[in-house]
Formats: sequence, structure tokens, C-alpha cells
Amino acid sequence: MTRLMLGRTLERICKAVLLLCLVHFLIMMILYFDVYSQRFDIFSRFNNGRNSSSSRTHPFYNLSRPNATFAGYLGTMNHIPSAHPEANVTSTAKPVPPCPEVPSGLVGRLLIEFSSMMTMERVQKENPNVTEGGRYSPPDCRAKQKVAVIIPFRHRDNHLKYWLHYLHPILRRQKIDYGIYIINQLGEDTFNRAKLLNIGYVESLKEDSYDCFIFSDVDLIPMDDRNLYHCYDQPRHFAIAMDKFGFRLPYAGYFGGVSGLSKKQFLKINGFPNEYWGWGGEDDDIYNRITLNGMKVSRPDVRIGRYRMIKHERDKHNEPNPQRFNKIQNTKNTMKRDGISSLTYRVVQVKKYPLYTNISVEIGKPPPRPMKG
Ligand SMILES: *[C@@H]1O[C@H](CO)[C@@H](O)[C@H](O)[C@H]1NC(C)=O
Ligand SMILES: *[C@@H]1O[C@H](CO)[C@@H](O)[C@H](O)[C@H]1NC(C)=O
Ligand SMILES: *[C@@H]1O[C@H](CO)[C@@H](O)[C@H](O)[C@H]1NC(C)=O
Ligand SMILES: *[C@@H]1O[C@H](CO)[C@@H](O)[C@H](O)[C@H]1NC(C)=O
Ligand SMILES: *[C@@H]1O[C@H](CO)[C@@H](O)[C@H](O)[C@H]1NC(C)=O
Ligand SMILES: *[C@@H]1O[C@H](CO)[C@@H](O)[C@H](O)[C@H]1NC(C)=O
Repeated sequence: MTRLMLGRTLERICKAVLLLCLVHFLIMMILYFDVYSQRFDIFSRFNNGRNSSSSRTHPFYNLSRPNATFAGYLGTMNHIPSAHPEANVTSTAKPVPPCPEVPSGLVGRLLIEFSSMMTMERVQKENPNVTEGGRYSPPDCRAKQKVAVIIPFRHRDNHLKYWLHYLHPILRRQKIDYGIYIINQLGEDTFNRAKLLNIGYVESLKEDSYDCFIFSDVDLIPMDDRNLYHCYDQPRHFAIAMDKFGFRLPYAGYFGGVSGLSKKQFLKINGFPNEYWGWGGEDDDIYNRITLNGMKVSRPDVRIGRYRMIKHERDKHNEPNPQRFNKIQNTKNTMKRDGISSLTYRVVQVKKYPLYTNISVEIGKPPPRPMKG
């Protein structure tokens, strides 16, 4: 009788041990495949190679470390917090608070001038904490948004130095988590600002999961750091009071110079038009897209939204577009087919400099003018 009971107990213990072994084996298999997929990049095509989210799923072990091994991995398992309830999941990540709505280090009105000599070396020295490609994130707080600043560009290297000289420190004081993207139109065909901005949207998203896009001309410098470069509930127009317009909005529907849209707002209007070649009109088309889609432009206070523009000759191959007045009448018909959904271009080079990323693109040329008559 007792022998039978002993037998039963032993049997139960054996079953339990077997079960435990099985569970252990399963866990090992799961971890094994996880490491495997990391090392050989089997699954990277499923996330476009961009969202290597495994570092997020296993914050305690860097699987992309060159010598990551299974044994090494298991060795770290003892440190998984669940085994030590007093340990803190967030304590290994950056233990920083969210950034305040209004950063404390702002100085308000700024003195902006373009007469002093500016070199890239100087601007680099001034900004040691900006990392390759023009990236920065506040060390002492967690920003709510990730902001891609996109600059349409061609032959304006001197302006870019001033822009970087002024903007990096401003954005740093504003506690913005950002990256700077120059979209450089190659060749000498007619310039196309809005198309370059669309490209900036697509290309910056290949670099990081940005949720806010600020589109800035390279010659516009804010004169007040309270003009915060992040996205708002409605599409934002930042450059409302430029010196060249006597520090006033030139007309009510003006949306030029510097503007900002969240990813959601940008997609809602199908991005920007690709078919405005030459100077002018594209910003009005964007304004129409915004209002036609039931949104409203938001703006800073006129005393804060002041800008200084670097004086320059009109660029070559960016003559005023004579078709712009007709085109902006037709936004309602064109915006569904002409936009981020119809964007085509070719990236020729992506180069990361200490203070910005230079993305050089071929964007084609305007279609031949329709015949008169
Ligand atoms: C990357 O991951 C984030 C959050 O995990 C997600 O919101 C985003 O859509 C992903 N991006 C891509 C390209 O898969
Ligand atoms: C993981 O290791 C790789 C290669 O050494 C390194 O580039 C990456 O920054 C590391 N990631 C983290 C989160 O430490
Ligand atoms: C990885 O292992 C190789 C060979 O065992 C060694 O030479 C190398 O220094 C290791 N690298 C790291 C980062 O530990
Ligand atoms: C866990 O992290 C939070 C936020 O960083 C902190 O407030 C809390 O004290 C931590 N708890 C422990 C047990 O470390
Ligand atoms: C750069 O970062 C270091 C360390 O966080 C800090 O001490 C230094 O003041 C920063 N420099 C600038 C110019 O922000
Ligand atoms: C960007 O790269 C292109 C192609 O290499 C180059 O011609 C141009 O000068 C660069 N512009 C800047 C601002 O770095």
C-alpha cells in the first residue's frame, strides 16, 4: 500500500520534472531563434531593416553586439528584472522625466546678424553634442515628439552655415529631439521646393520614426527662441513676421518660409504638390490643401514669430512660375492625385556630416509648356 503511494508520488515528481524540462526547452528555443534572427538578419526584411525593435523587446541585452552568443544571452537572464522584483524596468533605460511644455532655458528675443565670418569648423565647435547627421536629443528629458527638420537646398552653402550656427543652439534650448535633413536638388533644371519637401518626408522616415516634420527655407532664421519647433494640433506656420515683409503676415493665407506638420496632418493632405516648378505658388497650394481638408493653420504670436532672412540674389533656375496663379485655383482637383502618393525621384547620395545629413536627389524637370492657344 505505502509502496504504491510512494510509487505514485515518485511518478508525480517525475512528471513535474519532465514538464519543467519541457518548459525550459521551449523557452530556450524561443530565445535561440530570437538571437538567431538577430545575428543573421532573417527577419529584417519584414521591418524594412529600420525597426529593429528587438533592442526594445530585450533592453537588457544588446543583441546586435558583434559577439552576442546564446550562452552570453542566457548568462544575462539572471538579470532580467522579473527575477528581482525590486529592480526597475525603466531604471536601465534613460531615467529622465518628460520634457516640460515650456523649456526653462529659453532666452526670448535673439540678435541675428549675417556679417560675421562663419565657417563650418566654428559651428561644429559650438555644437559638440550634435551627433553625426545633425542629430540631437535632450540629455535631461524625454521629448514627446521626434522632429525632422527638412531644408530644400541648392547652392546655398553659405546660408546653411548661418542657419546651422543659429538653429542648433535654439533647438537645443527648446529641448527638441531632432535631425537636420538637407534635400539637395542635383543638376541645373528648374527648382522644385515642394517636391524636395515631400522627398524630405520620405527620406527622413527611413532614418528614424519621426512624428513631426518642419519644413524650413535655408535663409530664414527665427529671431525668438520661444517660437517652438515642434508640431501642434493643427498644421503650423512659423515664419509669420519676416523682416522682408515689414514683420507682418503678407496675406492671410500665407504659409511660406517655415511650416510644420505632424505625420498625420501631412498624410491627410496627401503631402505637398510635386508639380510646382520654379518660384512661388506651392505654399498657397499647401494652404489650400490644409483648409480643404478641414484643418486650420495655427500660428505663434506675431511678436514671437519674427524672422530674419539672409539677403541674396534670386537663385538661377528658380524663376517665378507663371502657371502658379492658375494652379492654385485647382488644388481641390489636383491634390488627390498629385502629392506624396505620386512622388517619384532618385536618391543619388546620402551623406552624413557632423551637423546635418545631405540627401542629393534627381527629381526630373518640368513638363514642356503647353502650346499657346
Ligand atoms: C516602427 O515601430 C514603431 C513602434 O514600435 C511603429 O509605430 C512604426 O510604425 C514602425 N515603423 C515601421 C516602418 O515599421
Ligand atoms: C549594441 O551594439 C552595437 C554594436 O556594438 C552598437 O552599435 C549599438 O549602439 C549597441 N546598442 C545599444 C542599445 O547599446
Ligand atoms: C569578438 O570575438 C572576436 C574573436 O573571438 C574578438 O577578436 C573580438 O575582439 C570580439 N569583439 C568584441 C567586441 O568582444
Ligand atoms: C522605478 O522607476 C521609477 C521612474 O524612473 C522611479 O520613480 C521608481 O522609484 C523606481 N523604482 C525602483 C524600485 O527603483
Ligand atoms: C555637451 O554635453 C556635456 C555632457 O552632457 C555637457 O557637460 C556639455 O555642457 C554639453 N555641451 C554643450 C555645448 O551643450
Ligand atoms: C551635398 O552633396 C552633393 C553631392 O555630393 C554636393 O554636391 C553638395 O555640395 C553637398 N551639399 C552640402 C551642403 O553638403
